[in-house]
Amino acid sequence: MDKISIAIDGPASSGKSTVAKILANSFNFVYVDTGAMYRAITFLAIKHQVAFSDEEALAELTKRYPINFQQSVHGQLVFADGEDITQAIRQPDVTAAVSEVSAHRKVREELVEAQRQLAQLGGIVMDGRDIGTTVLPQAEVKIFLVASVEERAQRRYKENQEKGIEMDYEMIKEAIAKRDYLDSHREVSPLVQAADAELVDTTGMTIEQVVTKIKEVISSKG
Ligand code: C5P
Repeated sequence: MDKISIAIDGPASSGKSTVAKILANSFNFVYVDTGAMYRAITFLAIKHQVAFSDEEALAELTKRYPINFQQSVHGQLVFADGEDITQAIRQPDVTAAVSEVSAHRKVREELVEAQRQLAQLGGIVMDGRDIGTTVLPQAEVKIFLVASVEERAQRRYKENQEKGIEMDYEMIKEAIAKRDYLDSHREVSPLVQAADAELVDTTGMTIEQVVTKIKEVISSKG
């Protein structure tokens, strides 16, 4: 397999990270979860009491605290400001604020630069909202992964139950729909399908079927 770049974008909980990890494993590529980077800045803002509306201070945080990914037997770990924040960035307080933080131009400029550095050598699967349009517009393969909001909420609800987290289905659905709205209506790099991206609607599909479909798209690109 050539060391190509694969960009996977799509709305919240569309299964991007699950399939991106499987693809990266099977091609021996590096997986970069850009959502984790916006979540890390949001976590740091809470930790250092920076307002989510303060673009300058948030950009300063982004410059000051590099985000590091490390592979472990438990999967990919995320570190910043001297601590393992892998679990903390998935907590509801971070999820509720991340779309506000990620809408700031200066925050995005810093993180996009870091994401391009990570992708420099190729052999990468990167997922997010603006990978195909802004971060890696030259990516050889671009996938836009969607699913109905009901199905995405259902998947998240099941995942939560398996982890022992009790959260109402309707609340999950509302939170997902709100994040999608904010991410696709912001001024800077909104969530939008790149003109040359392949749309994959995963509603009613299993993870295996989605992976097979994306591998077909990759093969078709030669
Ligand atoms: O992918 P995940 O759902 O973890 O992303 C969290 C949030 O980070 C998104 O809702 C969005 O606000 C932001 N994000 C972004 N651009 C990316 C990846 C994530 O704005 N490339």
